[in-house]
Amino acid sequence: MKILCQNAEYEKDMQDLVNLFFEGEDCPFSIEHQSDRDGQNVLSVLLVGSGDDVKKFEKRFVLPKNIGGLIEKSLLKRHFKNHLYEVLSSICKKSLPWGSLTGVRPTKFARDLIERGEVKPHLIGETLVRDYHVSSDKAKLVVKILQNQKCIIKNDNLVDLFLNIPICPSRCNYCSFISSELKAVEGKVEEYISCLLKELEAVKKVIAEKAYIVRNIYIGGGTPTVLNSEQLERLLSQITYPVSEFTVECGRADTITREKLEVLKKHGVTRISINPQTFCEATLKRIGRKTTNKEVLDAYMLAMEFDFVVNMDIIAGLSGERLGIFKRTLSTLLELYPQNITVHTLSVKNAAQIRGEEIKFKNDITKMVEFAEKTLMDNGYKPYYMYRQKNQVGGLENVGFERDDNVCIFNIDSMEDTSSVIALGAGAISKRVFNLENRIERQPNCKFIEDYISRIDEMIEKKVQFFS
Ligand SMILES: C[S@@+](CC[C@H](N)C(=O)[O-])C[C@H]1O[C@@H](n2cnc3c(N)ncnc32)[C@H](O)[C@@H]1O
Ligand code: SF4
Repeated sequence: MKILCQNAEYEKDMQDLVNLFFEGEDCPFSIEHQSDRDGQNVLSVLLVGSGDDVKKFEKRFVLPKNIGGLIEKSLLKRHFKNHLYEVLSSICKKSLPWGSLTGVRPTKFARDLIERGEVKPHLIGETLVRDYHVSSDKAKLVVKILQNQKCIIKNDNLVDLFLNIPICPSRCNYCSFISSELKAVEGKVEEYISCLLKELEAVKKVIAEKAYIVRNIYIGGGTPTVLNSEQLERLLSQITYPVSEFTVECGRADTITREKLEVLKKHGVTRISINPQTFCEATLKRIGRKTTNKEVLDAYMLAMEFDFVVNMDIIAGLSGERLGIFKRTLSTLLELYPQNITVHTLSVKNAAQIRGEEIKFKNDITKMVEFAEKTLMDNGYKPYYMYRQKNQVGGLENVGFERDDNVCIFNIDSMEDTSSVIALGAGAISKRVFNLENRIERQPNCKFIEDYISRIDEMIEKKVQFFS
């Protein structure tokens, strides 16, 4: 059942909130929102029910005087969403970890409140709890993350460079990213690299002309190390910016070889990821991820020889996993003790899957995320960036942890929208941040490799214009 809002501009956010309460179930009653206003006094009305049994819930609030139109709109939205949250929470007898917040970047939301002067920094945690119904644990998490983001520099001349390799050795069946299997695009890989290099050449000119300074580089995917060592050499030898943070998301251990790591090291890569997702081999089979624990451990030992900062991704909520298995994965991770660990919560392709066969142990997933966050912090890891995705089980989040000051600044920049990103390749989305105007523009490339190759000149022209 869809929510009906008198004021259409709030409908999407209100609907997102309804969806978070019902997670794939159909909302069993109709909801209508109306509002009335007399000067600064606003009345929010919710009509909830079905057939003849419709209940009316009212809430009044007063808007401050002399505020701009944009702030007024955001306050109205906040009050209407809070009202809806309170009503649904009492009807469903349920609270949500992120309260009435529906956006994907809670820490950016908190940072904006502070930067606009609406909330004093030391009061942000209690404000999230009091004004947005965020749980006290999640509010504490936000406070900790903001404290660990000291590396943010807002300067329109600083840019991050991102290259996308949306190719994988095989598809994992839970994956929510667009990426092609190598065997489907094998004949196009060389051409894809040529197009990437062509785009890079054009971008290099803009960087020089506009005196941009490249702060961080990130090659993501997909699985960039699906390329062979010659192909990696061909690509990396052209990326010559002297940065202190250069990540290559290797990800799949079965693609990592000594030769490839040598190429990465030679060209200044400082950080790689080797992602187990889980250390349960039965789960790996179930989720169609064709790697083994031995491959992950071997790749990790090899990476240590090269002195890379290593990140490891895990996912809470993989098909069939209960809390006990997840705890074992976490304890293996702690034995390995990588500098970065990212804990994801499973995000499903459509909300209906949450109530389907796959997500049998939903209650365990909340416990897994709580357990991971607490255990990692008890073991010296600090949370330093986070984001939420659509259809994430339990309305939870993904959190990146680091130890010993090994934050990945690129991850912070991308999630907090604090730096422009020049993004190359199929599926890459460039972002230009205008800090003084508090404005962001985005510019996407074609999603798929074939289109990207056939329209490369158009991609380049748009990119050059976008950053000029
Ligand atoms: C862009 S993917 C690339 C990683 C690399 N190809 C690998 O598989 O190791 C980055 C991470 O997103 C996470 N991820 C992918 N699909 C997900 C999903 N449906 N729900 C939660 N996390 C997901 C995984 O932890 C994955 O390591
Ligand atoms: S290898 Fe990584 S990007 Fe590729 S399908 Fe699996 S999780 Fe997704």
